[in-house]
Amino acid sequence: MKILIFYFSGTGNTEKVAKAYADALAANGACVISESLPEAENKLADIDFDSYDLLGFGYPIHAFNAPANLLTLAEKLPKFAQSKRAFIFKTSGEPVRMSDVSSLKLIKTLRKHNVQVTNEYQYVMPYNIIFRHSDRMAYRMWNVAQKVIPIDCAQILEGTPHSVKRMFMGGLLAWFLRIEHWGARFNGKRYKVNKDCIRCGYCVRVCPTKNITIDEKGKFRFGNRCLMCMRCAFGCPKAAIEIGLFKSWKVNGAYSFDKPAADDLPQADKHANYCKKAYNRYFAAAEDKIRSAENKP
Ligand SMILES: Cc1cc2nc3c(=O)[nH]c(=O)nc-3n(C[C@H](O)[C@H](O)[C@H](O)COP(=O)(O)O)c2cc1C
Repeated sequence: MKILIFYFSGTGNTEKVAKAYADALAANGACVISESLPEAENKLADIDFDSYDLLGFGYPIHAFNAPANLLTLAEKLPKFAQSKRAFIFKTSGEPVRMSDVSSLKLIKTLRKHNVQVTNEYQYVMPYNIIFRHSDRMAYRMWNVAQKVIPIDCAQILEGTPHSVKRMFMGGLLAWFLRIEHWGARFNGKRYKVNKDCIRCGYCVRVCPTKNITIDEKGKFRFGNRCLMCMRCAFGCPKAAIEIGLFKSWKVNGAYSFDKPAADDLPQADKHANYCKKAYNRYFAAAEDKIRSAENKP
């Protein structure tokens, strides 16, 4: 089976998941090509879609939405004469049901191109905005995702559908929440660099929409194409980017996903109670899934 995966990742979480998908699908004999955004957009015209049996789409949930650039890519797909099957994987900072509406627009757009989404999965990964999870929690999330992904990939390859339950009026809610795409552009123009900036140009290089420029006087300009993906602010070596109206929500610096040492005492986690029930439910369901896969004859 030949599979083509398109994904966008702002700060690396979805990329980790996309790589785990490619590895798990390949381990089951599939031939997998992964294309990340924004580069994928320029390759669309050269892709021989007929040679692919299955398409995959991966994204981080942004304010209960799929990022605008992935929706644009879906709109630019050809309209296939024969129906194609697809799967979706998403990453999010929290495991709340409302996130399920994030894929509705993507599914609808794909349907117009004769692409039917039969499988959809969500993986909780550490927040890249709002607050920082502890590295211990990041490890737990990634450890569970790495075990669940091969099970989900096996299900995709078997052809067993897996959809998520939608909320009542989910479509309307999703439509309303897409205000985030406009909000990201509005807020993105209000980004600033503070005095800690060393003009290394990291943000300019990594911005997926080329929204950041430095003029000849060294002054930063933030344009109106921001996706609020956080790549610039998260990876800035001096934590010098202020993210507009959401200044206090900035998270800076890569997570360590390594297993904590046995003698590493848990740090006090001031967010330990945030959505605690939802995280417990998510981990319990994942652990159940892993156990039943292990006990499968
Ligand atoms: C602008 C923005 C909005 C977000 N909104 C949500 C959200 O509604 N629900 C959620 O669970 N996580 C949300 N997150 C967290 C990301 O989905 C999560 O950290 C994701 O794994 C990041 O993936 P990436 O590293 O591939 O960009 C948001 C992140 C950003 C930057």
